Amino acid sequence: MEYTTLGRTELKVSVAGLGCGGFSRLGLSTGGTEASAIAIIHAAIDHGVNLLDTAAPYGTEDVVGKAIRTVPRDKVVIATKSSVFRDGERWAPERVVASLDNSLRELGIDCIDVFQLHAVPPSGYDYVRDVIAPVLLKEKERGKFRFLGITETSPNDLEHRMLLRAVPDGLWDTAMVAFHMLNQNTREAVFPATLQHRVGTLLMFAVRSIFARRERVAEAMQDLAAAGKVPQSLADERDPLGFLIHPGGALSLTDAAYRYVRHEPGVDVVLFGTGDQEHLRSNIASILRPPLPQADRDRLKQLFGHLRGVGLVAPPRAR
Ligand SMILES: NC(=O)c1ccc[n+]([C@@H]2O[C@H](COP(=O)([O-])OP(=O)(O)OC[C@H]3O[C@@H](n4cnc5c(N)ncnc54)[C@H](OP(=O)(O)O)[C@@H]3O)[C@@H](O)[C@H]2O)c1
Repeated sequence: MEYTTLGRTELKVSVAGLGCGGFSRLGLSTGGTEASAIAIIHAAIDHGVNLLDTAAPYGTEDVVGKAIRTVPRDKVVIATKSSVFRDGERWAPERVVASLDNSLRELGIDCIDVFQLHAVPPSGYDYVRDVIAPVLLKEKERGKFRFLGITETSPNDLEHRMLLRAVPDGLWDTAMVAFHMLNQNTREAVFPATLQHRVGTLLMFAVRSIFARRERVAEAMQDLAAAGKVPQSLADERDPLGFLIHPGGALSLTDAAYRYVRHEPGVDVVLFGTGDQEHLRSNIASILRPPLPQADRDRLKQLFGHLRGVGLVAPPRAR
């Protein structure tokens, strides 16, 4: 494993972080058991992964808590989240603090390393900054968490408007942000600011569902070509990103997806979500491989650099 510093938190974190939500929820969304989910967490830790990202709405905090019971506390960095905006409701600060307290209970720990506000829309930013954050900072003083983070609501915030306001504010130690081969604007829009303000970044959506299956890319290209956003020749191909896979290049579509994001300046931790032991091994291996060849990265930029909002679909509601 390789390790890096998570922005101004100074936490030493693995460049590959285990995402305990997403479509897989450690396999719990796809027929896995609590035991198999715990085995995924232990396998990740055995590979040197030390950052685990969960959230109250994922319904995996209890499983993470059970898995880390046998692991020295200083060997893992635990990141979790509370909702603030959910089902059309805006939560009062007391409800967010109750969520924090419940996370501590579910995880079975005294202090959360990174406590994040989940999926904050641009229209909700003033509220979290002015009303929620001051209350949370008092809970931080009480020792309930070490660092405060914020995560964007990518499918509804294609220009990263929320983070563009949050990053310079000095309140947030980490930012969770979307970036992938067909959603590249994070490079110019967000990373220069997170680097400048030393805000640690947790990368989501590297694979999501679009790069897990070749057919999904082909379908996306057909829609994009019909809308005049990519050349028709790409829509005619069975494997439109097949050009990335060649000797000296990527080994597979998912390999390309992880290697593409991993080496971008400004990316600290690449989150990967899986319930499959073989995917776990291959994803970590991909994250540790060298960058894609420059010519392939240039082609991705030229073909797709202008796209917005591709492959960012939300997962079905956990629980
Ligand atoms: N803050 C937020 O709003 C937010 C939103 C989304 C995600 N996140 C965080 O980011 C993490 C990662 O989310 P994500 O959206 O990037 O991914 P994800 O939703 O976890 O999806 C990855 C998908 O690809 C599959 N997959 C993984 N490795 C594969 C491989 N090698 N080959 C083929 N399929 C593979 C997984 O299924 P298998 O189980 O079959 O491997 C899963 O369905 C989440 O767990 C969460 O921690 C946060």
